Amino acid sequence: MSSRTHNCGELNKTHINSSVTLSGWVNSLRTHGKIIFIDIRDRYGKTQIILDKKDLINKGNSLSNEDVISICGKVNARTKDFVNKDISTGEIEVIANELHILSISNPLPVPIHDREASTEEHRLKYRYLELRNKTLQDNLIKRHNAAQVVRNFLSKKDFIEIETPVLMKSTPEGARDYLVPSRIHHGKFYALPQSPQMYKQLFMISGLDKYFQIVKCFRDEDLRSDRQPEFTQIDLEMSFVDEPDVRNLVEDLITTIFKKVNNVTIKKPFPILSYHDSINKYGTEKPDLRYKMELNSFKEFSDQSDFKSFKGLKYVTMLSVDDSSHFSRKIIDELDDYAKSIGAKGLAWMKCNGKNLEGGISKFFNKNLQSKIVSNYKLKNDSICFIIGDNSQLALKVLGLVRTKIAQMLNLCDNTIFKPVWIVDFPLFEWDEDQKRFESVNHPFTAPKDSDMEKLLSSPEEVLSKGYDIVINGYEVAGGSIRIHDDKMQKQIFEIMNITKKEINDKFGFFIDALKFGTPPHGGIAFGFDRLVMLLCGVNNIRDVIAFPKTTSASALMEDAPNTISETQLNDLNITIKKNEEDV
Ligand code: AMO
Repeated sequence: MSSRTHNCGELNKTHINSSVTLSGWVNSLRTHGKIIFIDIRDRYGKTQIILDKKDLINKGNSLSNEDVISICGKVNARTKDFVNKDISTGEIEVIANELHILSISNPLPVPIHDREASTEEHRLKYRYLELRNKTLQDNLIKRHNAAQVVRNFLSKKDFIEIETPVLMKSTPEGARDYLVPSRIHHGKFYALPQSPQMYKQLFMISGLDKYFQIVKCFRDEDLRSDRQPEFTQIDLEMSFVDEPDVRNLVEDLITTIFKKVNNVTIKKPFPILSYHDSINKYGTEKPDLRYKMELNSFKEFSDQSDFKSFKGLKYVTMLSVDDSSHFSRKIIDELDDYAKSIGAKGLAWMKCNGKNLEGGISKFFNKNLQSKIVSNYKLKNDSICFIIGDNSQLALKVLGLVRTKIAQMLNLCDNTIFKPVWIVDFPLFEWDEDQKRFESVNHPFTAPKDSDMEKLLSSPEEVLSKGYDIVINGYEVAGGSIRIHDDKMQKQIFEIMNITKKEINDKFGFFIDALKFGTPPHGGIAFGFDRLVMLLCGVNNIRDVIAFPKTTSASALMEDAPNTISETQLNDLNITIKKNEEDV
């Protein structure tokens, strides 16, 4: 007997009277005296099986959910009343004449069809069972489809997929490295790549012209709902390009992916927002443009008010929301608590009533000032303003987060809508107060803007970079830049970052040397592939699109990693584990 002639989602009216063999899992069982109904399931769907012969009923009675069976039988039309329009096989059933039990299942530790019924820890421990869930299988299928589209698209545009080493020398991407001790070179370590940044630039020096790779990257950083310690990038690099060339290619790639995988049309060209404007309008460099609600500078008006708490503050920012009826005192208090929990001293508010303001801090603004505010910001009747004063960084950041919170409360985050935006004109450096030195905002291989070259030595903090990010619905989906292709400039950047000559030589000597042998101007970008798939699947958790994700504490609960290793392995590596005080 062949173990299947069709899959469980394949049979329909055209197969009526055919003899078929199906194999799969018992999805559900219903016994009605002299007849047993089984829904048999595989990745492709479910088919209703009928056992109505005595020997088969006896066998069928011993079955439980998730046993693996194979049946031979004849396809039969369902009577009209029993047609199930919701599934592709809903017009037929198979009357079995043979039943083979291929594998018996123990009772399952986690329910498959109701993920919410067990804790995430428990589900991750039995992830291979959770992966029987249709939604998760659909997510992985979508992930596969997206990868196929990317490979086809880029291959057609002459990009070649080239693998880069996984055991490498540590490169600076801003996070901590995962390190691998060398057995042969005692005391020395490889790093797992945070990204293949230097390799892909070296490919351009090699003349390979257009490179891409769907590649695992590893970063030992604090995890969030959109971060994993190992994640996948669509990494690409091109020679002889400037910012608009990369933007055009990336827009074509993104629109093709959304069209082919989700049948969604995204309009080109994508809007472009400078980093400065993004921070001032949305309080973040990752703005969610599915909803408007922009932040506005409010200092001009708060300075004229009698509200003492805002006096002398560097920055006051305001956000207005149209319909104040959503904001009861309880909700306003909750938002106030939220703003305080993320660093603000408080969240001030006022409601717009015709030409005037009322409630909250309105009593500190005279009538004249109130009507100036209403007309200046074109406040709608019955709108509400939320205001935060502090240093500019904190005020903008907190009100930006309050904006996101309000959008969630008002259900403005529709996961079927996609609003991409380019963020450009990032500063090249940011000042690291702890280390008292400049750090790269992107990474140290990013080129400064041509127009800012003279400021590089005199005022590095004012230099803008040729970096760009793609943000979709508030997620940073991709980031890249036009690169430095001149060895002296590259060295200078490291020096501005206060990296010693010896360190530059030890860490990047090989790379700076490579730049001396004829380097084409080049640039590229890397997508967070998992984040892109999250958006395609309409989910907000990266773990829902990764087959075997790690927990937020970077543990793999199923196989229990990381774990201790044997004395022999430690000896081979010449490593001694320091005892923590509490272990002694
Ligand atoms: P960057 O560090 O911005 O750039 O990373 C590119 C994209 O990778 C995704 N990403 C992550 N996704 C999941 N979990 C993580 N821990 C994580 N960290 C980053 C984000 C991000 O936009 N070499 C450069 C690219 C370049 O310059 O070409 C780089 O890696 O979506």
